[in-house]
Amino acid sequence: MIDYQPLYNALLDAKADAWVKLLPKQLATALDTARHGNLEQWQTVIKCLPKLTTTYRLLNADAVQIGRADDVPDVARMELEQHLKALHPWRKGPYNLFGMHIDTEWRSDWKWDRLKNHITPLNHRLVLDVGCGNGYHCWRMLGAGAKMVIGIDPFLLNVMQFQLIRKLHGEAPVYVLPLGIEELPYGLKAFDTVFSMGVLYHRRSPIDHLLELRDCLQPGGELVLETLVIDGKLGEVLLPEGRYAKMRNVWFLPSCETLMSWLKRCGFNNIRLIDVTQTSIEEQRSTEWMQFHSLKDFLCAGNLQLTYEGLPAPKRAIIVANIA
Ligand SMILES: C[S@@+](CC[C@H](N)C(=O)[O-])C[C@H]1O[C@@H](n2cnc3c(N)ncnc32)[C@H](O)[C@@H]1O
Repeated sequence: MIDYQPLYNALLDAKADAWVKLLPKQLATALDTARHGNLEQWQTVIKCLPKLTTTYRLLNADAVQIGRADDVPDVARMELEQHLKALHPWRKGPYNLFGMHIDTEWRSDWKWDRLKNHITPLNHRLVLDVGCGNGYHCWRMLGAGAKMVIGIDPFLLNVMQFQLIRKLHGEAPVYVLPLGIEELPYGLKAFDTVFSMGVLYHRRSPIDHLLELRDCLQPGGELVLETLVIDGKLGEVLLPEGRYAKMRNVWFLPSCETLMSWLKRCGFNNIRLIDVTQTSIEEQRSTEWMQFHSLKDFLCAGNLQLTYEGLPAPKRAIIVANIA
């Protein structure tokens, strides 16, 4: 059981009383086992984790590390592996748990490396990570000195993976809540830094997403935005007519200049483009821990510059911006 009291206290300190009032009911509703066929089974996996103790935790390395190989006998590590595999697929990571390396679908550490030296240092900051997946970057944010990190993600398997990792780690000021951004109350203005990475293109209204993100920030706060973009001039946007890289729920892929103009229009200032990188089949690939299809299956056979549908292959930009 996670003790949410420190989270409520931090939100009250940040004058987010409106959310504190809603949260207990939001958590109870989202984690109601009657609403999701696999939830009870996933919760049992976490409840029955073997008891492993360690004093070793490393949150500022490529793989989030908890425990060392010689902290536990081989048999306990094998038991842990069974529990972790019961929560397959592991998409975001890597993690190293008691000497076992979880080679996830994504090298999420590469994204972190691209942005970590370009953001306002996270020391003592209250951080929101919107669409945080299983919380890999939340741990890295904590490792970078954040006072508290709150991730939100509506996909329950992600939340369960986070809870398993957190149980191995032990109590820490990091939480992943089973919520979408649209469930946060209007006018929060509570966070020092808000991350939205890999979410904007999943939203039908990108402008509303940017306004929602702005609304979560304290005056002077910082947004770190990462999303799919296309090459092109100001005003150019790709709206796929059907699937994009076999994904059904992809909406707007702007050019970088267009995205920056959206941010300006939404009231952000000090807007900096800090990175543009085409996703490689080394960064996103199938592994033992994610055995389904991955990027190379979503691209055009014989031309890695195009998606399966013949559109420009995934390229991601990271933009940092502030509000007054
Ligand atoms: C492409 S993943 C990105 C994960 C992580 N932020 C990263 O950059 O590696 C997008 C995540 O956004 C989550 N998501 C989708 N709709 C969302 C919403 N309305 N609010 C918050 N998260 C959402 C998905 O469940 C998914 O885990």
